[in-house]
Amino acid sequence: MNFDFTNEQNMVKQSIEEFVQNEIEPIAEEIDREHRFPRETIKKLGKNGFLAIPFPVEYGGAGGDTISKNIVIEEIAKKCGATAAIVSVHYLPINLILKFGTKEQKEKYVAKLTSGEHIGAFALTEPNAGSDASNVQTTAVLDGDEYILNGSKCFITNGGEADTYVILAMTDKSAGTRGMSAFIVEKDTPGFSIGKIEDKMGICASSTAELIFENCRIPKENLLGKEGQGFKLAMVGLDSGRIGMASQALGLAEGALEETIKYLKEREQFGKPLIKFQGLQWYLADMHSRIEASRWLIYHASYLEQTGKPFTKEAATAKLIGSETAMYVTHKAVQMHGGYGFMKDYPLERMMRDAKITEIYEGTSEIMKIVIASQITR
Ligand code: CAA
Ligand code: FAD
Repeated sequence: MNFDFTNEQNMVKQSIEEFVQNEIEPIAEEIDREHRFPRETIKKLGKNGFLAIPFPVEYGGAGGDTISKNIVIEEIAKKCGATAAIVSVHYLPINLILKFGTKEQKEKYVAKLTSGEHIGAFALTEPNAGSDASNVQTTAVLDGDEYILNGSKCFITNGGEADTYVILAMTDKSAGTRGMSAFIVEKDTPGFSIGKIEDKMGICASSTAELIFENCRIPKENLLGKEGQGFKLAMVGLDSGRIGMASQALGLAEGALEETIKYLKEREQFGKPLIKFQGLQWYLADMHSRIEASRWLIYHASYLEQTGKPFTKEAATAKLIGSETAMYVTHKAVQMHGGYGFMKDYPLERMMRDAKITEIYEGTSEIMKIVIASQITR
């Protein structure tokens, strides 16, 4: 076993740290306050190759590894949870098109996404199909050379900002999960519109939107994978995406611990720096221990994905522990900043708001337990 980063992983870590310091940290508070989607930052991330890392060179990727990709999300999340969410979701359609797409689909869509020229989104959730993803009601009916989509999706990250959407719809309702299919839908397709843009507790600079399909016609070549393969395709994508979201949670927790140690060294009460109080040091030790536990679950799950081994259980475990750690650590970090932690002058309240979503999206903590339990009780 080798727990060291490779040279390449170290290089990625160093370069994304610099990028975050120069491009992301300075605007993190502002884009949160203004609920502003950081499109320019995403473009720059693309330009600098960060969106291409784990993908094959022939389709505009950098031929790197999955751990490096997750390091990118982790490092971004240390300073901005919203940008990390945008990036993590952006990877999902790229991954799915590469895994299940035709050569033409890969050539048409992937390089534009890995370069940051286009933004990607993944749309599974509907008002009555959240945790129960099998209950999708959006339909896709083949009519000559086109599919006609009808229905709506809710809570879609990058919705309204994305150029390329992977959408899940029913092609055969009678077949249950085996009647679901995946499609690539381009923005501006007639019959496809953006509905409500959500106003959220956290990750405010990310966009979360309703998608509406009204007799939306897409070429039949835009079927992704085979008819009836959509549910499995979604689950495969989510297995990978969940490690990304766990990395977002890890970064948030690490960022909050770093801020807290700095603050406790500066702030004095009872005639000495707060860092000297053992009661607070115990919190720091707990925060550190949980962060280390989630770090190694995440890197292990990434390693399994990278080496082509099964990783459904490990991804769910990493997300469960990672997101609960992010909530624990950011909550304690606010507490240890006292009243200042509650104020927007410090980044802690934003980090705590941003951390909450990691327990909800890409499958809630309860769903992670269902996935883990079903795997260990087979
Ligand atoms: N990989 C491959 N196949 C899988 C799979 C996986 N990880 N999980 C399930 N499947 C297959 C099963 O083998 C089964 O196949 P067969 O038809 O051949 O038997 C089929 O899928 C159905 O599986 P289940 O019976 O287990 O399905 P279920 O209806 O009980 O649902 C669930 C299982 C895990 C609860 C699933 O519904 C789920 O993951 N729900 C949560 C939804 C979710 O995570 N949504 C996230 C939306 S995206 C998002 O949120 C993005 C973002 O935040 C930014
Ligand atoms: P529900 O499924 O109604 O769950 C409500 C509660 O019941 C939760 O605590 C849940 O864990 C619990 N529960 C449900 N079923 C069970 C059970 N069987 N056993 C025990 N407890 C259970 N979706 C996308 O497709 N694409 C996106 O890009 C995307 N981005 C999102 C961004 C944001 C900011 C948010 C808030 C959501 C996003 N989602 C996206 C949707 C997200 O994946 C769902 O919100 C999530 O899967 C939960 O579904 P739900 O909200 O319908 O909650």
